[in-house]
Amino acid sequence: MKIEMTDEELYNWVFKIADTFYDLVYKDVWFKKIFRNIEQDSITAQQTDFMVQNMGGPKRFSGRDAKDAHPQIWIDENIWNYREDLLKKAFKEVNAPAEICELWLKIDNAFKLSIINKGGVEECVGRFKTDEIIYEPMPDYLKK
Ligand code: HEM
Repeated sequence: MKIEMTDEELYNWVFKIADTFYDLVYKDVWFKKIFRNIEQDSITAQQTDFMVQNMGGPKRFSGRDAKDAHPQIWIDENIWNYREDLLKKAFKEVNAPAEICELWLKIDNAFKLSIINKGGVEECVGRFKTDEIIYEPMPDYLKK
């Protein structure tokens, strides 16, 4: 699917969504713990460049590929769904075009199997020797 808009329009939409999404993430008392080793501005910028590039826009992303970005973080299905709910909230809040929302979720899902942990925290590995392993299972009171 190719999005029918200019690179600038695409960038502006993706940035608006990412900015709103990470505002929700960093305001969330539990979820923000998973993001404690990265500044909000940095991940907002990285995620924007990553998505714009994956949606067919300019290639500016210089970080790790999504499948290599999280080996140190324990992410199960609950955490995955929680993140997706916040993302959908962000789409709604900024009134994002449906074609961008659909493509965003499709790209996310293409990486799902390589990001999700099926077993325990022993599956996690640091990206470098001193990398902190992040294990923050969802508290029961947040489970649906
Ligand atoms: C529940 C699911 C996810 C969680 C909890 C999560 C969390 C995080 C965190 C905490 C970081 C920062 C790591 C660090 O540098 O300290 C990160 C980086 C990143 N994530 Fe995710 N993420 C999730 C899913 C995804 C998905 C679905 C994608 C894209 C398809 C993605 C793409 C990225 C990218 C591109 C980076 C930056 C990599 C870099 O700068 O080298 N993440 N993520």
